[in-house]
Amino acid sequence: PCASHRSAAPAADREEPELNRDATPRRYLMCAPTHFRVTYSINPWMDPSKPVDLPLAQTQWEDLRDRYRSLGHTVELLTPRPDLPDMVFAANGATVIDGRVLGALFAYRERFEEAGAHRDWFRENGFAEVHEPEHVNEGEGDFAVTASYLLAGRGFRSSPLSHMEAQEFFGTPVIGLDLVDPRYYHLDTALCVLDAAADEIMYYPDAFSAGSRAVLRRLFPDALLAREADAAAFGLNSVSDGRHVLLPQGATGLLDPLRDRGFEPIPMDLGELLKGGGSVKCCTQELRG
Ligand code: ARG
Repeated sequence: PCASHRSAAPAADREEPELNRDATPRRYLMCAPTHFRVTYSINPWMDPSKPVDLPLAQTQWEDLRDRYRSLGHTVELLTPRPDLPDMVFAANGATVIDGRVLGALFAYRERFEEAGAHRDWFRENGFAEVHEPEHVNEGEGDFAVTASYLLAGRGFRSSPLSHMEAQEFFGTPVIGLDLVDPRYYHLDTALCVLDAAADEIMYYPDAFSAGSRAVLRRLFPDALLAREADAAAFGLNSVSDGRHVLLPQGATGLLDPLRDRGFEPIPMDLGELLKGGGSVKCCTQELRG
């Protein structure tokens, strides 16, 4: 009935989303921006000469945390360290699937010690299997989990060798994807998993090499393709619980395409954190299983 309705109804009469989207409760790890600042530049968005409004960053981050909680999700908190100004970008500190933790190994010295802080948190919080990696990987910055695959970015941060390490550790087929535009230096700035159970994603094609674009087309023929303006507004740096999609508020061009698919987009203002080159997803690590 859904399919015939879809082909019969003219786009203009469509009022109700055609698909029923169910949120599933998630558990997230976040880290307050207490010590956030931009004093070095390791991605094109970071300009140390631009001031950061720290109280505003804190408020924006709290809005995100509180929004997750009001949607019924659990938010765990990592203690921020004064010597680690990028620690608010908690997504980069590990990748967790079925309660098994693949630790991170950061590409830049400035963030190196965040990985240990994450591993300590996991050990103290009952995660029995915490793997300290051999090869550079920046956690969920470059790893995205769908039902069938672990999508893995490379080109700017994570080493291609980390892809095999992740595949061996999780036993999930890894699909390596080449990032080619320095503005989209992490996979999670160019691709977002909308429905993990259904292998549904959105991405910005121009952030990927021609070969990687062909792979994405083949594996995800129904993906939502983002336009440049929405990618540049960090629209792919979003978090979906299967129904609600929390996305940076500047990515207005994604609102209707998400609604058309039955999702409920929730625009968030994380403007201060954008100065560090991160937004919704960067601040959110998902603890799976
Ligand atoms: N300043 C941080 C860096 O360049 C931002 C990290 C953003 N996180 C992300 N998941 N993309 O490493």
